[in-house]
Amino acid sequence: MSEKDVREIVGEIKRKNLSYLEILQYIQEKYNYVPVDLLKKICKELEIPKSKIFGILTFYAQFSTQERGKYLIRVCDGTACHVKGGSKIINMLKKEFDLEDGKTTADKKFTLQIVACLGSCFMAPVCMVNSSYYGNMDENKFKKILKNLK
Ligand code: FES
Repeated sequence: MSEKDVREIVGEIKRKNLSYLEILQYIQEKYNYVPVDLLKKICKELEIPKSKIFGILTFYAQFSTQERGKYLIRVCDGTACHVKGGSKIINMLKKEFDLEDGKTTADKKFTLQIVACLGSCFMAPVCMVNSSYYGNMDENKFKKILKNLK
């Protein structure tokens, strides 16, 4: 990120008078993750105590400091989903998209997270793309969904 980017973001934060939490949400919305170096520069510019904002950053699971793709795919491999074919979906993601847990595609379109339970076992196997849930999935249906995303 250039100095110009930092200045623009700082200007926007001041203009909108964002809280610490909103600053993190704003950055994550813009980059799909929170770049730590950028956040340090913003803290310096705005004279925000780093410990406060980094405390919030690490507290909320919604924030990631790892670069992520435009679409965050979560596939459940908990017991209910695993038994009903979750692992076939995971295998398809590896074969078709070269995705593994924690990995982002080269084009920065997808990031995969394999999770233990998405709290929707009744519609196992379950996947998510960003905040949307897809229940009763199978590898072919999910492949189609992903291929249709721009
Ligand atoms: S085990 Fe998959 S949603 Fe609970």
